[in-house]
Amino acid sequence: MIMKNNKKLAQIIRVNHAGEFGAKVIYEGQLAALKLKNDQESIKLIEHMKEQELEHLDYFNKAIINQKVRPTIMQPIWHVGGFAMGFLTALLDKRAAMCCTTAVEEVIDEHYQDQLKFLAKEQEKLTDDEKKETKELEEKIEKFRAEEIEHRDIGYDNKAKELPYFTPLSTAIKCATKFAIFVSKKI
Ligand SMILES: [Fe+2]
Ligand SMILES: [Fe+2]
Repeated sequence: MIMKNNKKLAQIIRVNHAGEFGAKVIYEGQLAALKLKNDQESIKLIEHMKEQELEHLDYFNKAIINQKVRPTIMQPIWHVGGFAMGFLTALLDKRAAMCCTTAVEEVIDEHYQDQLKFLAKEQEKLTDDEKKETKELEEKIEKFRAEEIEHRDIGYDNKAKELPYFTPLSTAIKCATKFAIFVSKKI
């Protein structure tokens, strides 16, 4: 329960919990639209990514409880916003759905890299018990980051960049993701 009392560690748990929850609802939104369009091929790809997001979310769900960290108060907003973003992108164009994934995952990759750097630096200041707990967190973040990179690559392999409005859509989604990260750390 050490993380509750360490502001920075509590922020890491809170923002990652929010992010993995967001990833889950984005994919749920995309799946809802793809089912309407009966696009079985894309459904299979996205089901695979969603399975991994559920595992990420499960870890941070448990961390929120075990470490007694308060979840972000923005969760209901991220729920609606994430689902809408997933639903609309997938409804517009399969490549827009893939662009949504590449944009989000590129931001998350950097976000997880920053956290890993921070945790490595923080090690010297921790007691043995604290080290044990943050070690597990570090290992999870490393594993999840590798899977987010895999998701990004799935997006590019499935023609995200062939979307005519790839750059503006990607930029907008990256801004929204960065904003959600910033807010979820604080509140
Ligand atoms: Fe994830
Ligand atoms: Fe992901």
